[in-house]
Amino acid sequence: MAQPTIVEFDLDRYLRNSKKVDLSGIDWSSIPDRALSDGDVMCLHYMMDIETHTVIYLRDLLATRVAADPQITAFLSCWVYEELWHGEAFSDFLRAYGIEVPAEPKLPDGSTAMPTRPNRWRDLRVRMGVGNGLGLLPTMLGSIATRDFAAIHMMWGAVNELTTLTGYHALIRRSNHPELHKLLRKVIRDERRHFAFYRAQARARMERSRTARRLVRWALNRLWTPVGAGVKTEEEVDALAIYLFGDGPEGREQMREIDRTIAAVPGLEGMTLLEDYLDRALDRAATRPGWAGVAPPRLIPAASNGHSHVPEPTHWAQLGAVRDD
Ligand SMILES: [Fe+2]
Ligand SMILES: [Fe+2]
Repeated sequence: MAQPTIVEFDLDRYLRNSKKVDLSGIDWSSIPDRALSDGDVMCLHYMMDIETHTVIYLRDLLATRVAADPQITAFLSCWVYEELWHGEAFSDFLRAYGIEVPAEPKLPDGSTAMPTRPNRWRDLRVRMGVGNGLGLLPTMLGSIATRDFAAIHMMWGAVNELTTLTGYHALIRRSNHPELHKLLRKVIRDERRHFAFYRAQARARMERSRTARRLVRWALNRLWTPVGAGVKTEEEVDALAIYLFGDGPEGREQMREIDRTIAAVPGLEGMTLLEDYLDRALDRAATRPGWAGVAPPRLIPAASNGHSHVPEPTHWAQLGAVRDD
């Protein structure tokens, strides 16, 4: 007789409270006043691209048997909406700073139509086509029970969300821009809820099923790549990892913390995915001169971008109430 799957996450509360990230406290007009390093700007582009790519990841996820689970699809419906607004938040931040590459269409008043950056997203999606390394799994594992199979995607999602929010914490540590810090802290609050859902789903499936534990361990060991791999080149992924986590003991400790959290899930004891990846990235940078742009930081002043006046974004203006979860 099948045991019920008990998931320790208040989905009802999450669904009722889901909304776009509240950025009403950001002082948009002051963003160009503080300089960002090349590395900070690289991270912001990377984060913007990955957040905006979530809908393609969702397409791949819904092509699997995960789509049969009403709890998961309800979560995904709100999750993808929240991720869209994360992408728009980074897009607006970069524009307020004065960076718009490639050039994008503007409305007559100089503001930007929604969704922003259509040229960039179109190019990215045409270039890469599919979402992640899990695309072949449905056919490879055709006979596995749906809920065991879903454990792979849920744990994969948990690792992605945890890596993402830890990356945002690392960018707060590396950068020195008060408005960027505010923005990242607000986005991190959403990512924490996303991580909590995925981990609870994965844990529930893995606690009750030895098959699920084995499957997930196998998939992470054999197929896992850092969030953004596939959308970004190997060198870009390495550059982000080294910039955010390879700068000293604090970054390495953040990687280890991710690994410890993953290893606390039943079946994943002893795994060190993130720290192993960081070591490989550092090895590549050590053996290939110039790889991943490992060099002293250089500041890009906002004034160098040629934009004298960037209108403040308006789509965060109506947000007032702070969500209570
Ligand atoms: Fe996000
Ligand atoms: Fe997220």
